[in-house]
Amino acid sequence: MADSGGAAATDGTPRRDFLNLVTASFAAVGVGAVAWPFIASMQPARDVLALASTEVDLAPIVEGQAVTVMWRGKPVFVRHRSAAEITSAREVPVSQLPDPAPDQARVQKDQWLVVLGVCTHLGCVPLGQKPTDARGDYGGWFCPCHGSHYDTAGRIRKGPAPRNLEVPQYAFTSDTKIRIG
Ligand code: FES
Repeated sequence: MADSGGAAATDGTPRRDFLNLVTASFAAVGVGAVAWPFIASMQPARDVLALASTEVDLAPIVEGQAVTVMWRGKPVFVRHRSAAEITSAREVPVSQLPDPAPDQARVQKDQWLVVLGVCTHLGCVPLGQKPTDARGDYGGWFCPCHGSHYDTAGRIRKGPAPRNLEVPQYAFTSDTKIRIG
């Protein structure tokens, strides 16, 4: 009698079956645990949906001032341009620009420039938002990573960046409010 139990134990088969079963059930739990967050991540979270568009109140931004707002994880520069900044953006012949684009095509209202604050070279955030920042040779933004200079329309003028700062999709929802996205 002891033989049959002993034979099974020394044979090892039932023990292996048990181990296989345990391993299989752990694997099933493991797949379930991994699958849930993955499926959950496919649904846009409510806070992400909320950030799909961002509203900016322009009223407090005085002439010459700029603010940075975060939109979809990226900085957006909103600058209230002075008359001199607008003139300087418009007096350069478009054909001389590395990435030719007239200033008028990059703004919806002359005094408001809205661009992504991401250098088109390798993605650094250019300087020029604070009054004490370096703004480069053209009065817009300066990317210190490799020395790209942007003008007051956010266009690349000098340095390795290949393209102008991107203008995101946005709309004026009133005279003093924009919605980005
Ligand atoms: S990342 Fe801006 S110049 Fe290289």
